[in-house]
Amino acid sequence: MEHYNIAIDGPASAGKSTIAKKIAARLGLIYLDTGAMYRVLTLAGIRGKLNLENESSLLDLLNETQISFDQSKGEQKVFLNGEDVTEAIRSLDVTQNVSLVSSHEKVRAEMVARQQKIAQDGGIVMDGRDIGTVVLPNADLKIYLVASAEERALRRYRESIEKGMDVSLDKLTEDMKARDHYDMNREASPLRKAEDAVELDSTKLSIDEVVETVLEMVEKDKN
Ligand code: DC
Repeated sequence: MEHYNIAIDGPASAGKSTIAKKIAARLGLIYLDTGAMYRVLTLAGIRGKLNLENESSLLDLLNETQISFDQSKGEQKVFLNGEDVTEAIRSLDVTQNVSLVSSHEKVRAEMVARQQKIAQDGGIVMDGRDIGTVVLPNADLKIYLVASAEERALRRYRESIEKGMDVSLDKLTEDMKARDHYDMNREASPLRKAEDAVELDSTKLSIDEVVETVLEMVEKDKN
């Protein structure tokens, strides 16, 4: 499995990161949450009061921003220049602005370069929007994970309530649909299923059922 690469793409809240983390753990692979990288830059941009429409100032900021991960203690932590921002990057403000930040072509090019560097030693599960199409076009297995918009909004709602956040299901559904629309219709590498990706619908499946399905695919692929 040392050099086995798995790409998991799909719309927001389809369960990509939960599934990717579990598969990585089961197969002893590294896990990389590429969405978290765009979120870190968004947080840095908001804090620095940058105009997030302005590609060149975001690019300058990214060039002086170190984004790192630590998964040594079971859960994955995300750092912005050494500061733990794992919680901060999930705020509503970041979520509402991350699609805009990730729509800039030059920002994407730098992120993709960083992601490919992390993957160069092989043996990784990456989740995002452009992994199978751009970041890891030669991945051994590509999954396009989908679920109905209603189910995805409900999952996000339950997660938020559990964290004690005050949210409305209608607003969450609306925001999520807006983000999907933006991610699918931007000019720079929009979210789409790679031709050789397998589409998996998780609407009626539990997390474990999705994980087992993917592990079976890996098993088949290896034999
Ligand atoms: O997976 P997420 O919700 O944390 O992703 C945050 C945003 O980042 C999402 O709206 C689209 C963008 N993104 C992207 O454009 N490319 C990726 N590889 C990962 C995320």
